[in-house]
Amino acid sequence: MEYTSDVLVIGSGAAGLTLALNLADYAKVHVLSKGPLKEGSTYYAQGGIAAVFDKNDSVPQHVNDTLIAGDGLCDEEAVTYTAENSKASIDWLINLGVPFDQEQDASGETNYHLTREGGHSRRRILHAADATGKAVQRTLVSKVLAHPNITLLERFNAVDLITEQQGDKKVAVGAYIWNRNRERVEVVRAKFVALATGGASKVYQYTSNPDVSSGDGIAMAWRAGCRVANMEFNQFHPTCLYHPDARNFLLTEALRGEGALLKRADGTRFMPDHDKREELAPRDVVARAIDYEMKRFGSDCVYLDISHRDDEFIELHFPTILKRCLELGIDIRKQPIPVVPAAHYTCGGVVSDLNGATDIANLYAIGEVAYTGLHGANRMASNSLLECVVFAHSAAKHIHQRLDKVELVSKLADWDESQVSNSDEEVIITHNWHELRLFMWDYVGIVRTNKRLERAMRRIHLLQQEIFEYYSNFRVGNNLLELRNLVQVAELIVACAMQRHESRGLHYNQDYPDKLPEAKPTILAPNSFYHGGQLD
Ligand code: FAD
Ligand code: SIN
Repeated sequence: MEYTSDVLVIGSGAAGLTLALNLADYAKVHVLSKGPLKEGSTYYAQGGIAAVFDKNDSVPQHVNDTLIAGDGLCDEEAVTYTAENSKASIDWLINLGVPFDQEQDASGETNYHLTREGGHSRRRILHAADATGKAVQRTLVSKVLAHPNITLLERFNAVDLITEQQGDKKVAVGAYIWNRNRERVEVVRAKFVALATGGASKVYQYTSNPDVSSGDGIAMAWRAGCRVANMEFNQFHPTCLYHPDARNFLLTEALRGEGALLKRADGTRFMPDHDKREELAPRDVVARAIDYEMKRFGSDCVYLDISHRDDEFIELHFPTILKRCLELGIDIRKQPIPVVPAAHYTCGGVVSDLNGATDIANLYAIGEVAYTGLHGANRMASNSLLECVVFAHSAAKHIHQRLDKVELVSKLADWDESQVSNSDEEVIITHNWHELRLFMWDYVGIVRTNKRLERAMRRIHLLQQEIFEYYSNFRVGNNLLELRNLVQVAELIVACAMQRHESRGLHYNQDYPDKLPEAKPTILAPNSFYHGGQLD
């Protein structure tokens, strides 16, 4: 089976759907989604979207806060571009119908309710109670379903990008996709391909992310020849619920923005001992403080306490969290919540410019899959959904301007399955899955050392050999495809971490505890990368 499209969008989160909606009036668009259409980090976003809406706030202040959180490593041009476009992007969502919370002030004027999160010097976060992502995703999905120019391919995994050498340029011309419904590999021919596949936090044992966050877009782009950058900066969210039945449930930073306090088991606070910004220090600082306190006392978790706020306030602002915790026997109105950090956000990714364009012609990367330079060494809360919408708009504009200048290629090679058979040893895949995620958690987590990184890399290379062999001999399936991508992403994370001889932002290496005077991104290029001792 072959599909043809003007634009193939791989991913149906905030980035992919915003791009599709902004192109569909001019182009035939296919949107690919590996699971159900709604499934992705976007749907689970809680806190909100940062934008300059308050009259006491300003773009330079948003820029400055982002630069501080990014610990000297942000690309100032990308930060300014994002902050300058924040209001227009949110207005676009509002016009689409996203129901952000509003409130009336003393004079009777209705405004958007703005909450606060770590690193923000102002109230700047628009939100829909504590389920902002659900409101955004539902609105986008409803518009996409209604658009006649958008074809949705639900439960299709992109396997690999297809590129062609045209003169001196490498050009994206389509992708191989695995149709999970029919269990076969098919092909899409497209003038433009956009990766909107989200992050890679599933490479860690404990994560706030849904199952689809397996770094597929980063791995595909790397295999196709794109540079990737700053993969060592994986953000650990400080507060995920610690409970055997809800390991990846997030407790939004907006709780701390509205006064929640972090406490030890004995009820004493610890953040004042770690940073003068206390509970509202940037995430890297808070996650490391929790890690330190847990290790110091050998405890399984710390506690987040908002019980001093009025019941009514908690019920109004945090209904989702209240309900979920009550289901698990925790009444957040009356008692502290047990929390631990978990892998949350991939700050690095596929190198892309302000248009979302990558190193390969006609290939774009937008949203969490991309490295735009916005987040530097540590993403500031609620800048991610913003980045998705801002860069989807700029990519749409760029593609639209070039739509008539690019032709579909006439033919693509079919997927070759002549040498493979059905696997009879699924256990190899599941075992390798667990092994990879566990050693990434233990060796490449919040606190790293050279030895741990070396150990992780040795294991990665062994797994790569096994997985490559498996991939070459057996028919593909979701677990194998994801494992192949995760092990690739793990290699990129460790390679970047090994190249950084300092501690900065989210990357903390005990062997290099200081920050170097000059901040530089870690950029890896496929053609100069050694892996497993051989040139790739
Ligand atoms: P996603 O929304 O993750 O979507 C990825 C899409 O790609 C999915 O449709 C998936 O199926 C598809 N896909 C992946 N691989 C393939 C493949 N091989 N083939 C086909 N399809 C594929 N950020 C904020 O700014 N504010 C918040 O309040 C906030 N809260 C968060 C809370 C949680 C629990 C989590 C996990 C994240 C939160 N973040 C927040 C981060 C933010 O939600 C994400 O960074 C953002 O939603 C990413 O959007 P995206 O469109 O890039 O990817
Ligand atoms: C949260 O609500 O704490 C998550 C916000 C984010 O990741 O930006």
